[in-house]
Amino acid sequence: MAVFEVLCGFVALLLALYYFLKSPQFWEKNNIPGPKPFSVFGNFLPVIIGRRSLGDQMANFYKQYKHEPVFGLYLQTELVLAINDPDLIKTVLIKDFSQFSNRGLRVNEKTEPLSQQLFSLEPERWRPLRTRLSPVFTSGKLKDMFSLILDCSNTLEKYMGTLVSKGECIEVREVASRFTTDVIGSCAFGVDMNAMSKTQCRFREIGKEFFGPSLKQHLKHKLRENFPRVYTLLGYVLPTDDNTTFFTNAVLDMIEYRRKNNIVRLDFINTLMDLQDHPEKLSIELTKHLLVAQAFVFFVAGFETSSSTIANALYELAQHQDVQDKLRNEIKKHYELTNGEWQYEDVKNMPILDAVFKETLRKYPPLPILMRKNTEDYTFENMKLTIPKNTRIFIPLYAIHRDPDIYPNPDVFDIDRFKKSAIAARHPMHYLPFGDGPRNCLGARFAIFQTKIGLIKILRTYKVDVCDQTQIPYINQERSFLLAPKHGLVLKITNVDS
Ligand code: HEM
Repeated sequence: MAVFEVLCGFVALLLALYYFLKSPQFWEKNNIPGPKPFSVFGNFLPVIIGRRSLGDQMANFYKQYKHEPVFGLYLQTELVLAINDPDLIKTVLIKDFSQFSNRGLRVNEKTEPLSQQLFSLEPERWRPLRTRLSPVFTSGKLKDMFSLILDCSNTLEKYMGTLVSKGECIEVREVASRFTTDVIGSCAFGVDMNAMSKTQCRFREIGKEFFGPSLKQHLKHKLRENFPRVYTLLGYVLPTDDNTTFFTNAVLDMIEYRRKNNIVRLDFINTLMDLQDHPEKLSIELTKHLLVAQAFVFFVAGFETSSSTIANALYELAQHQDVQDKLRNEIKKHYELTNGEWQYEDVKNMPILDAVFKETLRKYPPLPILMRKNTEDYTFENMKLTIPKNTRIFIPLYAIHRDPDIYPNPDVFDIDRFKKSAIAARHPMHYLPFGDGPRNCLGARFAIFQTKIGLIKILRTYKVDVCDQTQIPYINQERSFLLAPKHGLVLKITNVDS
């Protein structure tokens, strides 16, 4: 009897091991091509353990399967459908958006109260909040913000001057982040964050930590996305994170101060106050943290993506002096025409600046993939493929932007790719730095302005060059969720007139 029990135990163990190691097979059974997953770890193990960036991992897969309309992957055992075909991308982002309105990220209110923000929220809370938050960046409001952005850019010019006078090479990502932290502080929150005038700035530190490649951040992100139950349990054990407490108190204090002093300023904080005052318009419960989380996403999304775009543009211009000269001439021409009194419309009428901005985002889109999740079973009619509810959709945006069949010599920085005729010849879904459809980037117009103004101010006065610390080629940071250079971006900067 004892031998029989031991045998049964042994067989049960073998079966458990077999099922544990057996790879999921949904895509294979449905004739969808894709790389073989590694047991229950799926296809993203190098990303989960921080050995490869998500952008690079998807680009590797894309190279193998780019001639297929779609290919199948597994995030551990979860189904992921990667879409290459531009018409299918359009179907998911725009045409059938109502069935793909989820982004599929995890929200963990207990462990990370500020994770319940617009970018990650499920459709039920996302929809009413998006409707109420969208008017923050109308063109009328952007016009009003223009002078605030210009003020910050004047500080940037001076701050850069102080750094240049030291005669050392400069980490331009840090300078650009301080500028965009001040801009978002001034335009969205009505406060001077002083990121350029103080060496120590708590908001800057919070931003840095949020996107930084530290092991702590990496583990936090991977636990939240891949082991949500463990992450929730941690919320019962760990004390509330200091940054969450600081940010929550800062936003609630701003609101209280304005209420006490009857201050009305048509910015983001005002929109949040309006949400508090009219809960009936929202149809969902507006908790303290749900409110502050929206401020948090504006803060973090507002500075990091634009600042890395400024820095990436400078990095390319340092390597393409001819384009830099052309752009500086355009800036000087506008400066003379306006006597230095820039208006909102001036920034819109600078074709070289626009092409530099667009080509920078083509080569370095801060978000390497777009994500969606279907809310119901969905059938792609042309392919006769039905994907079950909650399949993740990945659109490999970084890989598409670097596909030589779409952008010949994709590693070359070439602003002619954004001439009108070249744009017209491409499928619109082949250029998606801000995403598309109802869940596209809410801050795109604001981002365009702050990035362009930052570049104008820097390049009018300063010349950027490579130096012996400049990392060429650009290597992607493996642990970062956003596309970021592994070794920072260090450049030599001098006065134009010197
Ligand atoms: C160069 C700068 C920026 C880039 C390239 C960028 C890119 C993106 C992308 C690709 C998405 C996802 C879109 C999709 O899935 O279709 C997104 C979403 C978002 N972005 Fe941006 N972004 C930038 C700047 C900003 C700024 C300045 C803000 C706000 C101040 C902002 C706020 C948001 C928000 C709130 C979402 C989530 C939208 C939603 O789920 O409804 N972004 N951004």
